[in-house]
Amino acid sequence: MASTKSQDAIALLKEDHRKVEELFKQFESAKGDGRKETLATQICLELSVHAAIEEEIFYPACEGKVEEDLLKESYVEHDAAKIMIAEIAAGAGSGDEFFDAKVKVLQEEIEHHVEEEEKRLEGLFSQARKADLDMDALGEQLAARKEELLESYKATGIPKPELKTMEDVSV
Ligand SMILES: [Fe+2]
Ligand SMILES: [Fe+2]
Repeated sequence: MASTKSQDAIALLKEDHRKVEELFKQFESAKGDGRKETLATQICLELSVHAAIEEEIFYPACEGKVEEDLLKESYVEHDAAKIMIAEIAAGAGSGDEFFDAKVKVLQEEIEHHVEEEEKRLEGLFSQARKADLDMDALGEQLAARKEELLESYKATGIPKPELKTMEDVSV
């Protein structure tokens, strides 16, 4: 949805986090396979776009300005989540008996990751806030890219995830 209000980068990313938390909550109380599939698909879409804009724009801007280890862990956590997201997106509607369990595990992974980003004082966002970053300019870039990706993923589906920290996994 086009939006005219401009947000600083951290406000935008936190709003994405709240939206996905709400979707997970709705999934927990959803009844019926159809409703669950719709919600799971939306969760996968929102998270895929969010991870992409962080990796394309926000994380690179943090490079050299936040603890390197923390940033590296963020990329690895994204990759782990992308694998689960691909699994859930592919399994929606297939009657997978582990479908709900996979969504639950993804929720727990995301909760942990969001905590690492939002933790007071030492979290990634806190560290970025203390650094010399133009959060308004970054916010504009994030918003523009988010809109573009949402449209494209809605039209053609979520693309195969690009893993940044792992070789393509096949088991
Ligand atoms: Fe995030
Ligand atoms: Fe993230």
